Amino acid sequence: MVVGHERFTIFATSDEFGTLDPSFMIPFAPPRIDDRTIQAVTDALRSGWITTGPRTKAFEKHLAEYCGVEKLIALNSWTNACELALRWYGVGPGDEVIVPAYTYCATANIVMHVGAKPVLVDVLDDFTMDPEAVRAAMNQRTKCIIPVDIGGMPARVQEIMRVAEEACAWFTPAVNLRIGGSNPQMRLGRALVLSDAAHSFGARIGGKPVGAQADITGFSFHAVKNLTTAEGGALAFHLPEPFNAQELYTWFNTMSLHGQSKDALAKTKPGAWRYDVEAPGWKCNMTDIQAAIGQVELDRYDSETLPRRKAICERYHDAFAPDERFIAPLLKDENRESSYHLYMLRVPGASEVDRNVIIEAIAKRDVSVNVHFLPLPMLSFYKRFGCRMEDYPYAYIHYSREISLPVYFDLTDAQVDTVIAAVKASVQEVLG
Ligand SMILES: Cc1ncc(COP(=O)(O)O)c(C=O)c1O
Repeated sequence: MVVGHERFTIFATSDEFGTLDPSFMIPFAPPRIDDRTIQAVTDALRSGWITTGPRTKAFEKHLAEYCGVEKLIALNSWTNACELALRWYGVGPGDEVIVPAYTYCATANIVMHVGAKPVLVDVLDDFTMDPEAVRAAMNQRTKCIIPVDIGGMPARVQEIMRVAEEACAWFTPAVNLRIGGSNPQMRLGRALVLSDAAHSFGARIGGKPVGAQADITGFSFHAVKNLTTAEGGALAFHLPEPFNAQELYTWFNTMSLHGQSKDALAKTKPGAWRYDVEAPGWKCNMTDIQAAIGQVELDRYDSETLPRRKAICERYHDAFAPDERFIAPLLKDENRESSYHLYMLRVPGASEVDRNVIIEAIAKRDVSVNVHFLPLPMLSFYKRFGCRMEDYPYAYIHYSREISLPVYFDLTDAQVDTVIAAVKASVQEVLG
């Protein structure tokens, strides 16, 4: 029996050490850990360098090549990486940041952390942010827009970039801001588009990998993600001139390490102990142990991970798309293709209560499913903050019917068929 949600899946265990008994049930999203991963971590441990070092730097370079950007920085989570991006852009009290109502809490929490106000907008049928709702929410306080690639399907980032550009006449930059010797708000002259690509590493927009479309793209390498480093994240920089990718990298690298002018590796060079701190930074660097896991994941991402995830989603699609009791998720259109992170099925005939009962019925069949996500206005904090679910009808209706099915590399075709049978039988049992 399994109790699961995105961040913590509690497995029934076969012994006191918590070893997963694979015959017992179908879990939701276990990571792929095999001898190659274990060897890479062992090598990192034996190398004598376990914090940020050569493995992290190589991983960053390879990620940047994959995404088609000049520079990318690997950090310890999406949350800390994207919060740092807001701080770099000088977003703070009095400012507004537009986020979709339908997302994981991290997207809005980082806005709260910097003292700005998250402004929620509704989503479209593919679960992603509605660019027209963004347009309507823009005003002179808007400093940033965070579209979210839910389930791996890219948001309409290019349309949202256009909305930001069209609204540049209203943009009111903070005048006294100095970040790394210049004022990024004055330089960009419009709201920053910070893409929440926590789910969408390897997804495509216009045939190109996600990362080189928004101003800054934030990835998550959390344990359940398509590409994991156990915990981790990255920022891909794609800011227009006169921004300089190397300067951006240097600022983020320094500020992810307390604002120190030298990182630990640089300080170990003979005689190079002295450093300075020009601004009090944060602490959110990636370790070489994490990068070692990530590099193995990246090396086999296009050849193994993505094709397997796609094949699983297509098998679900063949079963659910023709069945009128279900709405199959959009995974591809003429411009965008998902990273196949989640298979977000909907049951249109179900109320929220029915959906919850269906999930219990599926769990009784030893299949772990999930719901992505509880919209922000349903969370106590955001309710107290004044967000009302009735203002985001699409977010609510999508959420109330949604069931995410297991998608992960080691899921076999036979297990996919077991999931399909469990879902169909459960829906039949509850809705007749
Ligand atoms: C949409 C979304 N954004 C951001 C995050 C935060 O990522 P991290 O755990 O790497 O901070 C998550 C994590 O699950 C997420 O689902």
